[in-house]
Amino acid sequence: MPEPELDIHLDADEWAPQLRNDVLEGLTSSPKTLPPKWFYDDRGSDLFDQITRLPEYYPTEAERQILHARAGEIAALSAADTLIELGSGTSDKTRVLLDAFTATGQLVRFVPFDVSEQTLIDAAKVIGEDYPDLRIHGVVGDFERHLGTLPSGGRRVIVFLGGTIGNFAPAQRRDFLEQVVATLNPGDSFVLGTDLVKDSGRLVAAYDDSQGVTAEFNKNVLSVVNKHLDANFDPDTFEHVAVFDEENAWIEMRLRSLVDQTVHIADLDLDVSFAAGEEMRTEISAKFTRDRVADELADVGLDLLDWWTDTAGDYALSISTCR
Ligand code: AVJ
Repeated sequence: MPEPELDIHLDADEWAPQLRNDVLEGLTSSPKTLPPKWFYDDRGSDLFDQITRLPEYYPTEAERQILHARAGEIAALSAADTLIELGSGTSDKTRVLLDAFTATGQLVRFVPFDVSEQTLIDAAKVIGEDYPDLRIHGVVGDFERHLGTLPSGGRRVIVFLGGTIGNFAPAQRRDFLEQVVATLNPGDSFVLGTDLVKDSGRLVAAYDDSQGVTAEFNKNVLSVVNKHLDANFDPDTFEHVAVFDEENAWIEMRLRSLVDQTVHIADLDLDVSFAAGEEMRTEISAKFTRDRVADELADVGLDLLDWWTDTAGDYALSISTCR
């Protein structure tokens, strides 16, 4: 079994000044915002994991269904010997792809890319044990900044699953896609998971579940700020809000202050006032149509090769190729 390689582009202490910046900028803007990347401390990651198993939250199961049905086609269409996964996490769902790509004998290298060094080390270990012939080259980085550091060579496919691209605003999304294209060579491919526009009742339910798990997940960002910036948010004085913005075709999650209050963020030497009823945006999750995905890919030079949805038509995987 080849030793896994690991490139580290994000130092373990880099996140702290970023959190400070994001919180300072977000809470002094009008309307106030906090970026969704700060949901995911240990508790937030655990809550997200619970979300993926909620009856209302269909994307995870829909994507799993498509991957099972189409992994062989993805292997054949991409003809890739190197599989790169952005935001790979534990690489659990990647196994379906790894199985299909190794069954054909085509796969030489797996490149999991994630923000968390420990998550990558753990994933590389278990994947390495289960796929002993595979070279594993982990990359620790932020997929908005470090795509340029991905290892080159071979015929590559980049996969970005889970609908996470929906967290980007349109300009950010274009930026991200441009960076994906910049790292690809002609003939390389890109597999993207996108949640689809649908009845707003079902969309809202997926982000405002009856057990209140998503509400806890949303409020967890306040605990993250409390813990790392010595702030005194009282999560009980905020309520979870999820709305579908039809015009922008995205779900917006917000935290609404239930009272007039001033929050102190000691590490920033900052007082932030909230009026009763004031809403702070914590996440957007964009929903797509086939045309929109095809157009946005084409805009950066990626041609849609194929498009698959789950049987209900709720969620899509696309494969595109670099001109
Ligand atoms: C991990 C960004 C794909 O937008 O559906 C789930 C995050 N937020 N429930 C999504 C999330 C609330 C999720 N992504």
